[in-house]
Amino acid sequence: MTKTIVVNEIGGPEVMRLVDLDPGPPGPGEVRMRQAAIGVNFADVHYRRGTAPPHAMAKLPMPFTPGLEGVGIIEAVGPDVTEFVVGDRVAYASASVTIGAYAEARLYPADRVFKVPAAVSDVDAAALLYRGITVHGLIRSCYVVKAGDTVLLHAAAGGVGTILSRWAKHLGATVIGTVSSEAKVEAARSQGCAHVIVTSKEDFVARTRDITGGRGVDVVYDGVGIDVFLKSFDCLRRYGMMVSFGQASGMMEPVDPVLLQHEGHYLTKFSGSTYNADTAEYRHRASEVLAAIQQGVFELGKHPVYKLADVASAHRELESRRTTGSLVLVP
Ligand SMILES: NC(=O)c1ccc[n+]([C@@H]2O[C@H](COP(=O)([O-])OP(=O)(O)OC[C@H]3O[C@@H](n4cnc5c(N)ncnc54)[C@H](OP(=O)(O)O)[C@@H]3O)[C@@H](O)[C@H]2O)c1
Repeated sequence: MTKTIVVNEIGGPEVMRLVDLDPGPPGPGEVRMRQAAIGVNFADVHYRRGTAPPHAMAKLPMPFTPGLEGVGIIEAVGPDVTEFVVGDRVAYASASVTIGAYAEARLYPADRVFKVPAAVSDVDAAALLYRGITVHGLIRSCYVVKAGDTVLLHAAAGGVGTILSRWAKHLGATVIGTVSSEAKVEAARSQGCAHVIVTSKEDFVARTRDITGGRGVDVVYDGVGIDVFLKSFDCLRRYGMMVSFGQASGMMEPVDPVLLQHEGHYLTKFSGSTYNADTAEYRHRASEVLAAIQQGVFELGKHPVYKLADVASAHRELESRRTTGSLVLVP
């Protein structure tokens, strides 16, 4: 039998139940994967507790299996699948197609999986791919980070935060990161932040303006939401760009466009579903993340790992803001 996490009702971590549920054979255009590692993303928490954006919640089936990314071995291919064979090691990392990663085995559309080089471990792939593809969209498409830029990044010690700060630094940018506690300062600094602001004891607007000599930053990347969103505009330089990509602390209030006119700021709301809707674009982002992993851009082998059966603990830790980096499940 196949152990699978199933959620029957919106609620706390305890609503995630481990059950026997076999996904069956792959249909046309599908592969069946035996999963070796599964990434835990904050979006999984949002779906489980019902705080994902309303349009996403409206599409959520009930019951459902959470999870957006996994890596493993193909154990069966659908009748018309020619690109892959049984035994191929592949991964997927995609919000726009289908959730359901928290399982020992699952079906997935073959055109959305990609091979993983042997040099990249299962746990590193699960820790870095979904967030890495997100970060690629944020720093290579949404706002193109270049050498000499100064970036303000909220939740810099988190999963997306550590990947974005490493990659932006690699591109020649200076990263100012915020974290909520002193305990996360070293994690943020070691992952590429030149400056770390502890929001529980410092005013991040004043500190950012101070660090930038009053100019402000070129871009703000905000995955925290309501607690920092509005104030972050005061950290931007003239014509700077605010990129909102998440709301871990809660959904932002609607914005009056007049807010943008004082300094000519730009505002965009990033969604991985949009930026990876095109399969060729998604595959391109995945290949660039895998190349960056192999070039040594990211720290490897240090991700907290939980058993699939212990997923509730992983969610509790993530929600409590105690984690740094990306959490991974193994069967
Ligand atoms: N748009 C997309 O396609 C996309 C894709 C991937 C991720 N995301 C978003 O990116 C953000 C980061 O995702 P992640 O999976 O890497 O998570 P994460 O950053 O590892 O964890 C979330 C972090 O948010 C901060 N936070 C602030 N207020 C919080 C609150 N009330 N509750 C919990 N955390 C709070 C915490 O850092 P501090 O304690 O240091 O503040 C926490 O560590 C999330 O908002 C996620 O939804 C969006």
